[in-house]
Parts: sequence; C-alpha cells; structure tokens
Amino acid sequence: MSVGDVAVRATGVWKRYGVGLTQVDALAGVSADFGKGRFTAIMGPSGSGKSTLLHCLAGLDKPSDGKVFLGDVDLTTLPEKQLTHLRRDRIGFVFQAFNLVPTLSALENITLPLDLAGRKPDQDWLTTVVDTVGLMDRLAHKPSELSGGQQQRVACARALVSRPDVVFADEPTGNLDSRSSGDVLDFLHRSVREFNQTVVMVTHDPTAASYADRVLFLADGQLRSELVDPTAESVLDAMKQLESRHDTADELAG
Ligand SMILES: Nc1ncnc2c1ncn2[C@@H]1O[C@H](COP(=O)(O)OP(=O)(O)OP(=O)(O)O)[C@@H](O)[C@H]1O
Ligand SMILES: [Mg+2]
Repeated sequence: MSVGDVAVRATGVWKRYGVGLTQVDALAGVSADFGKGRFTAIMGPSGSGKSTLLHCLAGLDKPSDGKVFLGDVDLTTLPEKQLTHLRRDRIGFVFQAFNLVPTLSALENITLPLDLAGRKPDQDWLTTVVDTVGLMDRLAHKPSELSGGQQQRVACARALVSRPDVVFADEPTGNLDSRSSGDVLDFLHRSVREFNQTVVMVTHDPTAASYADRVLFLADGQLRSELVDPTAESVLDAMKQLESRHDTADELAG
C-alpha cells in the first residue's frame, strides 16, 4: 500500500506490561497497514492483544516499542497535549459498553465531542449521520430510554460526527442481540461505503467480521493470518485453523 492510501500504520509495535514473573508481552511486534476508506476487523482469542492493539493505534496507549502513524503523524513521539487534540479531532472510538452520558439526550451525546472542542456541528453532516444511523425520532431520548442497540448507534454517530480519519470500535456488538448487532454493523459498513470512512473493529463474531473488507487474526500478541473479502464461513475456518495450530504448538511445547 502506498503511503497516501494508508490511514493508520503500525510498525513493529510491542506492548509490555509488568516486570519479572508478571511480565506480559501483550503485543509482540505487530506491523500492519489500515487503508483509507477500508473496513478492517481484528479477531483472535481472549488475551491475544486485540484491545491493546486498538488502544495503541488510537493513541490511547503508548507502545513500549515500535511506531504508530496516523497519516504521516507519528503518535508515539507526539507530546501528550497534541495527542489529546489529535484524538479529539481525528479519531472516533466506540466501546463495548456504550459509554454515553446518562443525563444527556441522544442528540447531546452525539454532539458532545464537538461541544467539548468548541466546534459547531456541520448540520448537513449531522443530519446525514443521524439519518443513516436511524435515530431521527429518538434524538430527545436519554440513554436509559433507548435499547442497547439504539444506545450503541448513538455511540457510533458520536464517533462519526467529527468526520474522524479513523473510527476504532472494540467489540461494538459484544453486548447486543443479533438484530441490534446487524443495525450497528450495517451502519459501520455504510459509513465506509457511502462516506469513505475508515473503520477498524475488534470482534469475536464471525458474522460481524464478515462485514469487513479484511480480517486480521492475532494470537499471543502477533499477527498470524489475514483474510480478504471474508465470509462468516471463511472466518470460522480461519479461526479453527488458528486454534489447531495453537493446540499443536502447545503439544510440541510439552
Ligand atoms: N493494564 C494492563 N496491565 C497488565 N496486563 C495487561 C494490561 N492490559 C492488558 N494486559 C494483558 O495483555 C494481554 C492482552 O490483553 P488485551 O486486553 O489486549 O486482550 P484482548 O485480545 O482484547 O482480549 P479480550 O478478547 O478478552 O478482550 C492479556 O494477557 C492481558 O492480561
Ligand atoms: Mg479486548
């Protein structure tokens, strides 16, 4: 991929937690490019480093070694204050727990990042996002008056409203039933197809991963394989292969 097509680039990213006996390499040399206007899913067993990778890519966490570039900005050397601004202006994040402010309406939650930045929302864009996410008739509701799926769609709209370079989502459908998951995934998919948004999403669900253009598989903090144009079936197959390789490695290790 040429540099101009890359939204985020990780090169040799390590993340080490703890010291001595409790030391864990959550990431052990991850290099990957995330193309502009592409939808990438990250999968792997629990503890394989998915959230750690997402946090490093989003500038929420610093790698112990290696580099992360957002466009041509090196996030690993950026002073904290500039990093805070960059996260606010150029990155959207959707968490598994929707993380909405309970006392604010859906609309106020969506525009909160802009309000905090002292920026006015682009009304046309706001309308487009709210319409696409299917929340027009729910804007005055508080999070407690919305279903889980609706709350997560508010969180997605909030992540998109500032037109970030990249939206990162960590198991955005982890707490949702299949119907609500479908709504959220449709929205992320449309944001990529129709608005050329770049999305990087962690998921455990092969069906969710099949909405992506590409799936990266992590195990023990390393990238093990990838799939382009995945289907739920091909993702399941790849997961099985990874597991059997893992079992064989365990047996060899005794
Ligand atoms: N703050 C921390 N301190 C120490 N160890 C950590 C910390 N955060 C994560 N780890 C360890 O790093 C490894 C990777 O964790 P991470 O949360 O990235 O996994 P994950 O793939 O997101 O797992 P899950 O699917 O369960 O969310 C795990 O072994 C975890 O225990
Ligand atoms: Mg995680």
